[in-house]
Amino acid sequence: MQAELQKILAEALEAIAKASSVEECEETRVKFLGKKGALTEILKGMGKLSPEEKKEIGQIANKAKAEIENTLNARFAELKAAAQTAKLAAEKIDVTEPGKKFELGAKHPLTVTMNEILNVFKSMGYSIVEGPEVETVWHNFDALNSPKNHPSRDMTDTFYFSEGRGSEDMILRTHTSPVEIRTMLSQKPPIKVVVPGRCFRNDTPDATHSPMFHQIEGLVVDEGITLADLKGTLDTFAKLMFGPDARIKFRPSHFPFTEPSAEIDVSCFKCGGKGCNVCKGSGWIEILGCGLTHPHVLQAGGIDPEKYSGFAFGMGVERVAMLKYGVEDIRLFYENDMRFISEFK
Ligand code: DAH
Repeated sequence: MQAELQKILAEALEAIAKASSVEECEETRVKFLGKKGALTEILKGMGKLSPEEKKEIGQIANKAKAEIENTLNARFAELKAAAQTAKLAAEKIDVTEPGKKFELGAKHPLTVTMNEILNVFKSMGYSIVEGPEVETVWHNFDALNSPKNHPSRDMTDTFYFSEGRGSEDMILRTHTSPVEIRTMLSQKPPIKVVVPGRCFRNDTPDATHSPMFHQIEGLVVDEGITLADLKGTLDTFAKLMFGPDARIKFRPSHFPFTEPSAEIDVSCFKCGGKGCNVCKGSGWIEILGCGLTHPHVLQAGGIDPEKYSGFAFGMGVERVAMLKYGVEDIRLFYENDMRFISEFK
């Protein structure tokens, strides 16, 4: 029995030394110390021994058991520590690894252009105001001295919300000019504002038309405002927006809300006036409409035209952006094709 115990002990110690994982170690424990383990089986046979033998064998058995247990515990601890180290190594964070790259967003080219224009006027002391996109016929047409039979009032040009054509009927504004009226009705002269915003016209989209587009309107009302003020203002605008060499010229035109009215051409910012594909060989590019505010418009805004005068102008943001960035199709601004948008970063 003694020899058998020695054999079991030797076997157990060897198995423990070989165990290469916590699981194998546990298997070894069950094999030798478990209820049906080798050592336990042997001890069951002790009942047949004499008291002296029992004492002697008992001592040896206890020693063997203790040695197996101690060795097992040490191996358990070793394997657990190794497992932990391996786990930590596998999970370790390499702080020197390059970070995840993410794409920086960019402002939309229309936003960029709009901000550029607005910043020029802000630097000249203008305030920025906004008005509603859903307008009354009165603000959009009547108050702006637009004749009742003007073609722009037609359903084919204007989005109406109802069948009616009365002053109180609602439309999507066709220009930012109605905000001139709203501004005059809500603040007293001196008035000096620019109005950015969306406009809508019942146009079929093509390379130069979109049913939704953006304008920036300007309005100045004070005592003694003349055409010279308008000219000086737009000349300054052109130089700040397109560079110190930019020149402007006035071409007589007609708008119901201004008298006299003009369209402004700016010397081509690509060729400087020599003639190129952007200005179609003329050296000039049309950028806005303007004029001295019609007395009827001042009256509609609650302002005495005998005492005050004013000037106004309106320009298309898309048009300026297309010319400036050489964009040949207005629809590119609204399709949100990343290949186009990201060119403006
Ligand atoms: N509202 C005009 C348009 O949409 C643009 C315009 C022309 C605005 C002359 C003005 C102006 O304020 O004086 O075509």
